[in-house]
Amino acid sequence: MSFEFDVITLFPEMFDAITKYGVTGRAWERQIYGLHTWNPRDFTNNNHRTVDDRPYGGGPGMVMMAGPLEEAIVAARTKQITYGIDKTKVIYLSPQGQLLDHKMVVELSQLSGLIILSGRYEGVDERLITRQIDEEISIGDYVLSGGELAAMVLIDSMVRRMPNVLGDPESANQDSFVSNLLDYPHYTRPEVYQGDSVPEELVSGDHVKINRWRLQQALGRTWLRRPDLFALRTECKMTIEEKELLREFKETYETKQNDVK
Ligand code: ADE
Repeated sequence: MSFEFDVITLFPEMFDAITKYGVTGRAWERQIYGLHTWNPRDFTNNNHRTVDDRPYGGGPGMVMMAGPLEEAIVAARTKQITYGIDKTKVIYLSPQGQLLDHKMVVELSQLSGLIILSGRYEGVDERLITRQIDEEISIGDYVLSGGELAAMVLIDSMVRRMPNVLGDPESANQDSFVSNLLDYPHYTRPEVYQGDSVPEELVSGDHVKINRWRLQQALGRTWLRRPDLFALRTECKMTIEEKELLREFKETYETKQNDVK
């Protein structure tokens, strides 16, 4: 049984971006996961298929009404039950949610399905959130025009970790954040580009040297660019080799900085 995503959205076609292209497109064709969309407009009972109204208390924009959203969620729940999906959650994507990170992606992947609400306009009626939503998730501290792109970010991050999705099963394990490290730099042909050469370690053919160089770059970049992530790799969790590689990286970095001055 594949993982089932049921997405409540006013713009179902947007999800072609993941079901039709690249890694997530191939995984969808191979039925590694299912993705079904539910349009709240199909759950309205007025001629205009209205799903939004003005906010109580005034202010700009419109608010999505609870009724059509709740009916769409209930329909999606019923479908998931019919499919035998027992472990599921209803997620609402919004800037007010908890920030999405690798740990959450792994936890959500333990379920067998998700119902994802992508909102539009100023937001959704709070009573719908209280009644139906298990978790509110944000993909970052900025505001998008709707939850669809955020839903696709969440789905993509989960699908790429599913078995047999990536050609090389090791790829997902080597992704950044699995071990709280940023990725090392990558190079391909030509060996010299505009006078700039590939680091000699990578063309040495010596795999111990290559792995050492990559680990050093990953440690160094994390230290430089993401001190918050680096703090999670406390001193005691670092091996002697890692400490030495980082010491060497910092030394080279500081020498370069002084040369510039
Ligand atoms: N909808 C609008 N902005 C969002 C964000 N930053 N994360 C999740 N959903 C959103």
